[in-house]
Amino acid sequence: METKVWQVDPANPDPNAIREAAQVLKRGGLVAFPTETVYGLGALAYERAAVRRIFEAKGRPLDNPLIVHIARVDQLEEVARQVPEEAYRLMDKLWPGPLTLVLWKVERIPLEVTAGLPKVAVRMPAHKVALMLIEEAGAPIAAPSANRSGKPSPTSAEHVIGDLRGRVEGVLDAGETLYGVESTIVDVTVEPPTLLRPGALPLEVLEELLGREVQVPLFARGLGEAETAVAPGMRHRHYAPDAEMVVVEAEDYSDLSRLVPAVRAIAKQKAQEGARVCVLCTDETRSAYEDLREQGIASMSLGPRSDTFIIARNLFKSLRLVDEMGYCFVVAEGLEERGLGLAAMNRLRKAAGYKIVRA
Ligand code: TXA
Ligand code: MG
Repeated sequence: METKVWQVDPANPDPNAIREAAQVLKRGGLVAFPTETVYGLGALAYERAAVRRIFEAKGRPLDNPLIVHIARVDQLEEVARQVPEEAYRLMDKLWPGPLTLVLWKVERIPLEVTAGLPKVAVRMPAHKVALMLIEEAGAPIAAPSANRSGKPSPTSAEHVIGDLRGRVEGVLDAGETLYGVESTIVDVTVEPPTLLRPGALPLEVLEELLGREVQVPLFARGLGEAETAVAPGMRHRHYAPDAEMVVVEAEDYSDLSRLVPAVRAIAKQKAQEGARVCVLCTDETRSAYEDLREQGIASMSLGPRSDTFIIARNLFKSLRLVDEMGYCFVVAEGLEERGLGLAAMNRLRKAAGYKIVRA
């Protein structure tokens, strides 16, 4: 299959490109499109056969449900029912934006979308291209991240094309995404509301708006036994580079004096064993690994610890870069689980296959 690529201006997308892409969707095809978080791989949510093709194209396990994307709050009733008052409050303040709500699904949403579950995940993305595509398609769009299953989510059209060329009909290319990490997912059908996946919307913002605590299960932090995680789609190995990886965590990140030596020790040992090693670090610690260069150990900074937006934004593209540059072992510094640090740590732990060392 030939994969068509439409280059579009994110601020002022060409309506003709959007129309063509929407036509592809209406004919049952798959189109990857940008959102403010990561690129999604879309099919019309009501088209079972098209939705099934998403799983095929990604190599995605069938028990991992998809997020349904809408363009207006009044479209919500085409997707979900019994929406709690509290959920409307969140939508009012945070949509369009990187918050996905898990709600009771309406009959019309096929079980292919929800992997057999009675609940559906819904969000309204804050990206002109995504919103115009949904409007033009005339129906909600089911879309997981547009990567091959298990790979880091795509933050640029190049990532999508690298993973899915020849497997999907088209890609709308609007350059790099803003957040570079997926949406925050909250189940609002349960008491108290429960975080299923930390993402681009900080938990702190959510709790502030709700005026109460959101439950954070261990699996949402990327901890606990992956096999027993209760949320669907959370059991699968995720976001992983081809390289083997370990995360080194500290008790308290205001003092990095034990973290750095622990990272250095693992990196050196692996390098001695012959591995091409890369340390995934932060601006604050980068210089502490400079001398390891002589031993063939590289270091890559995700950004300053003080700015978790930047750290989260760089995470997936750095994981892809590690593979491109041919490193086969990554030692990642842990991060404080505050702001977008919570999402970043969830992704790092999963990328490492839950291999965690405590400094
Ligand atoms: O930012 C995002 O969320 C991106 C963009 C494209 O919108 N989408 C995304 O989808 O990252 P992805 O690949 O993470 O897949 C959707 C995830 C599933 O793995 C699952 O964890 C959760 O959403 N999910 C979907 N439906 C669910 C449901 N009914 N109950 C619980 N979790 C659900
Ligand atoms: Mg994904």
